[in-house]
Amino acid sequence: SAPYNHARRLLDWYDVNARTLPWRSPPGTPPPDPYRVWLSEIMLQQTTVASVKGYFELFITRWPTVAALAAAEDADVMQAWAGLGYYARARNLLACARSVVADHGGRFPDTEAGLRKLPGIGPYTAAAVAAIAFGAHATVADGNVERVVARLYAVETPMPAAKPTLHALAAELTPTQRCGDYAQAMMDLGATICTPRSPDCPACPVAAGCAALKLQTPTRFPVKAAK
Ligand code: ADE
Repeated sequence: SAPYNHARRLLDWYDVNARTLPWRSPPGTPPPDPYRVWLSEIMLQQTTVASVKGYFELFITRWPTVAALAAAEDADVMQAWAGLGYYARARNLLACARSVVADHGGRFPDTEAGLRKLPGIGPYTAAAVAAIAFGAHATVADGNVERVVARLYAVETPMPAAKPTLHALAAELTPTQRCGDYAQAMMDLGATICTPRSPDCPACPVAAGCAALKLQTPTRFPVKAAK
């Protein structure tokens, strides 16, 4: 069962401690434009928050809407993307923007299933956009979230075999209200407190429900595969 009051404690913490990032709206306020959420989530795949910030601002200034991006020259977008790496992402970015305009009247689908059909949108991005931009009851599970959940439940199965279990537990923990804030709260907890090597457990809002802390070995989780 879920650690005591997990979502409530995490959301209360997020209300005070949310990182201010250019693609976010403050906790408890209406969600950001789906275009901003989608663009940031594609950029944040395999790239750090610190590196993404500048590229995100540059793209939004140059192409403020999905229609503007869809109408861009391929070479201009590829050039603006240079430095973020993984160029397949940039090609998919354009294909996705063009599909949103050509096939969806310029509006992103508001469900995980609808988003999944777009180029370059996998399970992670579909859940992130559905939850953050549309408030859908979707569970976002990136590496940070996997680590947080592995610790909360002291999951002994090694990675990567534990992933399905971790994703199922993450889904159980997801509240029905404020799913977008909750998703970003889990990301912020993983990025700032429940870090891989030196978690700051005394500052953690859900420490009381953490099985790994109770075992006094938070950094043992997620368990690594035997070499
Ligand atoms: N990493 C991936 N998505 C993120 C988001 N919305 N906020 C912060 N870090 C992220």
